[in-house]
Amino acid sequence: MLLEPFEGNYLNVITMFNPEIYTERRNALRKLIPSGIILLPGNTEAAYNYAANTYTFRQDSNFSYFFGLENPDFVGIMDVDNGTDYIFGNDFEIDDIIWMGPQPKVIDLAAKVGVKNTASLSELGVFLNNAILKRRPVHFAPAYRAETTMQLSSLLGLNPLRLRDYASLPLIEAIVKLRSIKADIEVAEIEKAIETAWHMFTTGMRMAHPGRKEQEIVGAMEGISIAHGRPVSFPIILSINGQILHNHHHENILQEGRMMVMDAGSETSLNYASDITRTVPVGGKFSQKQREIYEIVLQANLNGVAATKPGVFYKECHTIAAETIAAGLKDLGLMKGDVKEAVAEGAHALFFPHGLGHMLGMDVHDMEGLGQIHVGYDNEIQPSSQFGTAYLRLGRRLQPGFVVTNEPGIYFIPELIDMWKAEKKYQQFLNYDKIEEYRHFGGIRIEDDILVTADGSRVLGKPIPKTVAEVEQTMADKL
Ligand code: GLY
Ligand code: MN
Repeated sequence: MLLEPFEGNYLNVITMFNPEIYTERRNALRKLIPSGIILLPGNTEAAYNYAANTYTFRQDSNFSYFFGLENPDFVGIMDVDNGTDYIFGNDFEIDDIIWMGPQPKVIDLAAKVGVKNTASLSELGVFLNNAILKRRPVHFAPAYRAETTMQLSSLLGLNPLRLRDYASLPLIEAIVKLRSIKADIEVAEIEKAIETAWHMFTTGMRMAHPGRKEQEIVGAMEGISIAHGRPVSFPIILSINGQILHNHHHENILQEGRMMVMDAGSETSLNYASDITRTVPVGGKFSQKQREIYEIVLQANLNGVAATKPGVFYKECHTIAAETIAAGLKDLGLMKGDVKEAVAEGAHALFFPHGLGHMLGMDVHDMEGLGQIHVGYDNEIQPSSQFGTAYLRLGRRLQPGFVVTNEPGIYFIPELIDMWKAEKKYQQFLNYDKIEEYRHFGGIRIEDDILVTADGSRVLGKPIPKTVAEVEQTMADKL
C-alpha cells in the first residue's frame, strides 16, 4: 500500500493571536517606558530529576504576552528608543531535529509575532554589552526561576542574590497596567479554559461517592485538562479535608458525611487559565448542617459578585462577602454581636482566613511573579495587616476588563479554633461552644471567574453546577 505523503509535525507552531496583536502590545509597552532596552527572557526547559528529563514546558507569561512564541530558550528585546524588536534564539540543529522533530527557523517563527529581527543567543551578550556601554537603561522584570536569575545575572553582570533589587519598577508597572485589562480575545481564551473546567468539575462531582479515593478523581480531572489541550493551571487541590486551604494530599477514601473541596483549573494553548472551586457532599446529598453552611458561602459568593463593578475597591467586595459569612454564622449561633463590627475587628477570619480573590489571566494568580503589591494594590490602597484580610491579593479599584476570582469559604480549622479559644480571642463575637459542634465539618469554598464589565460584572464561562439543587442533580448521575 502506498502511504499518503505526511506533513511533518512542526514543533511549537501553535495557533496564536495574529501578529498585529503582539506588535500592538509591544508598542503599547514601549509607550509606557521612558527610554532604553526592555529585556524579556522566555523560559528555558527546567530539569525534573535530571537535565534531559524536564517538566512540561511552560512559557513565561510576559514573554508569551508580548512575543507569543512557545519555544524554550528564546529572549525578546524591545528597543524603546528606535522602536525595533528582536528575538534571540537558536535554530534547530540536526540532533534537535532527530529527537524533537523539525522546527521552522527562528526568523520564520518571529514573523508570526510581527518581529523582523532575529539573532542567535550567542549574540545577545554583545548586544546588551553595547547598550550598557552606552549607559542605556536595561529594563527587566523580577525573575521567579533560578535558570532565569542565572541567565540575567550573567548577561548583566549582576549578583544573582540581589537581582530582584535591580528589576525595573517602570517595567513592572507598565506590564501590570497592560495585562490587567483583558481584551475580548483574552476573555474568550479564559472562557475556553472554563469550558474545560466544566468537564473537569462535572466529572469530579459525578465521581464523588463513598469508597472512591481522592487521587482517582484528581487523575480523572487532570486527564480531562490534558485531553482538552493543556495541563492544569496549578496542582489540583482536592480533599475531604477542605479546611486545609491548599491541600495536595489525595490519599483519603471518600466517606458519606464528608464535604469534598475541588479547586482546579486548566490552561489553553495560549496560556490563559481558569480557576474554579466547588464543594460537594460525598454521596451526593447535603445534610441539613452541610446545606446551611453551603448556602452561606454561596450567598457570600453571590453578594461579592453583585458588588463587583468598576470603581469599587475589591477590598470592599471582600468585606461584603465577609459580612455575609458573619451574618449567616450569627443566624446559626456560631457568631454573635454586631456583624459589621465583628468583621471590622477580624473575628470572621476564624472561618474565612483568606481573601475573596485575585486577578486571573495568563497566570492563575495573574502577574504575581512581578510582585503582588504591584498587581493588587496602589497608592490609593495598601494591603491590610489584619489576620485573614492580609491574604487578600487584590484590594484596588476595579476597572472594566479586569478578570478576578470570587472565592469565599467557611472552614473549621481545629488548630485555629483551639488557639483562639485558649486565647479567648474575640469572645464577644464567637460562640466557641457552638463552634465545637462543627469541629470535624471540614471546609467549603466556592469560586468563579468574574469579568468586570463597563457597568457591572459577569460570571465567565459555561455555568458549572453551583446551587444545592444543581450539585445534587449532577451528582445523581454517578460515575
Ligand atoms: N486556586 C488556588 C488559589 O487561588 O490560590
Ligand atoms: Mn483562586
